Amino acid sequence: MQTMWFDACIFDLDGVIVDTAKYHFLAWKRLADMLDIPFSEKENEKLKGVSRLASLEIILELSGKKYTDSEKAKFAEMKNTWYVEFVSRMTPSEILPGAIELLTDLKSHGIKTAIGSASKNTLLILEKVRMKDLFDTITDGNMVKSAKPDPEIFLVTASMLNVKPDKCIVFEDSVAGIKAAHKAGMYGIGVGNKEILIEADYVINDLSEMSFLKLTALKTINQ
Ligand code: BG6
Ligand code: MG
Repeated sequence: MQTMWFDACIFDLDGVIVDTAKYHFLAWKRLADMLDIPFSEKENEKLKGVSRLASLEIILELSGKKYTDSEKAKFAEMKNTWYVEFVSRMTPSEILPGAIELLTDLKSHGIKTAIGSASKNTLLILEKVRMKDLFDTITDGNMVKSAKPDPEIFLVTASMLNVKPDKCIVFEDSVAGIKAAHKAGMYGIGVGNKEILIEADYVINDLSEMSFLKLTALKTINQ
């Protein structure tokens, strides 16, 4: 059998597999409005891939005010309650284009697949869109201490898959996630806007632009 330059593909969840980035934004926007903090899609870009508490810190910084730890915990819980209301209503129709096809294609070629997401709601979402069984392993925000751009989540995922980091490809829609992939020694494919994901090794608009065959041609190794 031909040796591949990659053995596993690790997918971020929010904004790559499912269209939940919009729900994160709506829930943060509701909190920001409540606190009279100016917050738009532009500021939201910095929150992508970042953990819940780190996202809250970024928003509160825009207010110029100081909040206590218990206020912060209350705000994070409020945002999550609103977010969970949105995702609890999700159906498989919110799976992003090409996700199922790419996962099926990779599996049929013996490539391992995983989720590496900062979200503590990962399992709830995957159950709602009925995708849990398409991944060999699922690593989420409940299993790591450090948030992206720290590489911890991807290194834990690679070790659970029993695959070396340099044989993993990461699919990410966030700048923090691409940084995390690189720090983990992995190849990072950006999913989304080329002008934002400038550090990515390759950028696609969505997963329908990728296939096992295209991945094999992305990088050639001399061995
Ligand atoms: C990431 C999202 O996947 O998960 C971030 O891109 C989010 O926007 C983070 O803050 C944590 O998610 P959750 O569901 O645990 O609040
Ligand atoms: Mg994401």
